[in-house]
Amino acid sequence: MAQKSLQDLFDIFLNQQPLFIKKEALQETHTPENVPHREEQVKQLATILVHTLRGEKPSNIFIYGKTGTGKTLVSKFICGEIGKRAKTHGLNLIALYLNCKIDKINTPYRLFAHILYQLGEQVPVTGLPTEEVYRKFIQTLDKNKSTFILILDEIDSLTDTSTLYNLTRVNTQLQNSRVSLIGISNSSGFTNNLDPRIRSSLSEEELVFPPYNAPQLKDILFKRAEIALRPGVLEEGVIEKCAALAAQEHGDARRALDLLRVAVELAERNGEPSVTINHVDTAQKKIDTDRVVEIIKTQPRQSQLVLYSIIYLKDLEKGDISTGDIFEIYGKLCKKYNLTPLTQRRVSDLISELEMLGLIGANIISKGRYGRTRTISLDVVGTALEKGREILKYELA
Ligand SMILES: Nc1ncnc2c1ncn2[C@@H]1O[C@H](COP(=O)(O)OP(=O)(O)O)[C@@H](O)[C@H]1O
Ligand SMILES: [Mg+2]
Repeated sequence: MAQKSLQDLFDIFLNQQPLFIKKEALQETHTPENVPHREEQVKQLATILVHTLRGEKPSNIFIYGKTGTGKTLVSKFICGEIGKRAKTHGLNLIALYLNCKIDKINTPYRLFAHILYQLGEQVPVTGLPTEEVYRKFIQTLDKNKSTFILILDEIDSLTDTSTLYNLTRVNTQLQNSRVSLIGISNSSGFTNNLDPRIRSSLSEEELVFPPYNAPQLKDILFKRAEIALRPGVLEEGVIEKCAALAAQEHGDARRALDLLRVAVELAERNGEPSVTINHVDTAQKKIDTDRVVEIIKTQPRQSQLVLYSIIYLKDLEKGDISTGDIFEIYGKLCKKYNLTPLTQRRVSDLISELEMLGLIGANIISKGRYGRTRTISLDVVGTALEKGREILKYELA
């Protein structure tokens, strides 16, 4: 670009009134001061946890609800509040928050090491025997003479359930401290697969976070937009549109915030003075496409090939797609791309994983006395599909 026009471009951007005044308020990292429309959940949690203020051990709690229903926000919020109260009462209360997925906590060792680290104790990332770390963990908890609230967010990532077993029994080994657990999961089914002893201990109390409806999302967005944006930059109906789209998508507040933030970014990038409903539509396409691309890129090759097979079948437009159809095409594509084919069973597992990632849908159809069969549909459409196809071709080549 010629120097002159680049300078012109800087001028345009500098003279433009920014649409954001505090973008951070529309991002995940921002913690709002209160949590509207989760009063019931806050109250229930408070009722259970208030025992800690009397120095008793509260029940363990298992929280579940779909993504973006405020589980992380509420549990952090309440621990903060209870911590303040404990301080004024001179009680020793320590709330520890761990995100099992982000912190990659998949072994007992990592879990204990993480907690010890938060309590100011250094443990090497690997190397010590797990028993030794566990002993140190118990010692440190006891030394603190405190009530601990241990929040394990995205607890499904903790695949080694022996860790959970250890944790649910930790109080029997403590003399001066006690621990209560708050486990958080996006799936209600998580505890079903646990050892019954762990399950009953972990979910002494259960709390469900229902999806937000459109008016609630509108209200949440409105409050955060007030902090984030210059007054008057949103045209009529923008917040309503974001709320309506996110309500359709299992009432997800994260989605609603993303839609609004990206819509404003798009408007700002185009140098436009205000945000319209069209920006929200474009934002939706962009978010979907980015998400699909991100998932596809991070999948192993075999899984990419299974997805590619499904897209291939979909393009043929021959109606219902069965697992058998996919396996057949997958076999042919394996030859083409020089991959050793997996067994039908493994391919079936990969199909289930793609379903969990939201890229495909699976329906079980009963065929009367011929048993049941699974038909697969592709849940990626439009621009996201085009982009996805492109990325797959590139990744597999
Ligand atoms: N009631 C609410 N008021 C304001 N923001 C909310 C509310 N519920 C959720 N959010 C926001 O939506 C996003 C997702 O919430 P989060 O608690 O992370 O959901 P979950 O843990 O259930 O997936 C976060 O940015 C959070 O700040
Ligand atoms: Mg969360």
